[in-house]
Amino acid sequence: MRFFEGCTAIITGASSGLGAEFARQLAPVARELVLVARREDRLDELKREIVSRHPGVRVRVHVMDLTDDLQLGEFASWLEREGIRPNFLVNNAGMGDRGPFATGDWAKIQAILELNVVALTQLTHRLLPMLGAGGRGAILNVGSIAGLIPLPFMAVYAATKAYVNSFSDALRMELRGSGITVTAVLPGPTETEFGRVARRSTGERGWETPDVLAVPVEDVVGAALVAVARDKARIIPGWHVALVMGVAVALPLGILRLILQRRTA
Ligand SMILES: NC(=O)c1ccc[n+]([C@@H]2O[C@H](COP(=O)([O-])OP(=O)(O)OC[C@H]3O[C@@H](n4cnc5c(N)ncnc54)[C@H](OP(=O)(O)O)[C@@H]3O)[C@@H](O)[C@H]2O)c1
Repeated sequence: MRFFEGCTAIITGASSGLGAEFARQLAPVARELVLVARREDRLDELKREIVSRHPGVRVRVHVMDLTDDLQLGEFASWLEREGIRPNFLVNNAGMGDRGPFATGDWAKIQAILELNVVALTQLTHRLLPMLGAGGRGAILNVGSIAGLIPLPFMAVYAATKAYVNSFSDALRMELRGSGITVTAVLPGPTETEFGRVARRSTGERGWETPDVLAVPVEDVVGAALVAVARDKARIIPGWHVALVMGVAVALPLGILRLILQRRTA
């Protein structure tokens, strides 16, 4: 964790799950944490918890809807006004939808596209100049193993995470030598609020990743931070998840389609 000593980190989606855990694991070494999400009470609660355990770290809460263009712009101005100089951006906020695409609620599909793709890209674009200002910065994008293969009944979510995986790799290459590193973490199933948010009120069936692949939140976040410190392009937390996905992506697409269709038929 020495890599993160004295860092100023912005963590999106910090009000639950992986985002809150990123804040907890960075708190002992960071100088400043900026926690971003919509639920203010959750962020305030996390802030209280962190400050009581680690009085040395300054924690700021910024309540915003990342899918709102205006709020995103205002966030960058707020950072400047407050004199916050971030050198670590954790693009973690994301959501999914489990069920057939045809019967999906368009408002939810649009929110997924705006949050997982547009907000992540726009925030990265706006904050790049700040991240590089101190000579060294890092970006951690939270993708998913879902982005490695097409996933029926979670089609839009998987496609957005394929974008995150690809964008991260390409940006990493573009920024080589700039002092800013880019890493993507591709978690498998992890016990957070993700499943509740992705579930449809209609109870429609969706893609379910086998529980045997589950990795604890703490391990996912720990592995991701080690990958950033070691300047790795990608990390799939959990050796068993990495193994299964290694086999899946090595299969001819035709065979993979047959397997996925059988699993979801
Ligand atoms: N859990 C898994 O199995 C799994 C697997 C692979 C990848 N991932 C990825 O991991 C990341 C974190 O998800 P999680 O599992 O920790 O799920 P989670 O517990 O549901 O957390 C999602 C976070 O995103 C925030 N968020 C959602 N919409 C937002 C918006 N419009 N504006 C600002 N913040 C918003 C939520 O906060 P508010 O509701 O307070 O705004 C929450 O803090 C996501 O990118 C997800 O795709 C998760």
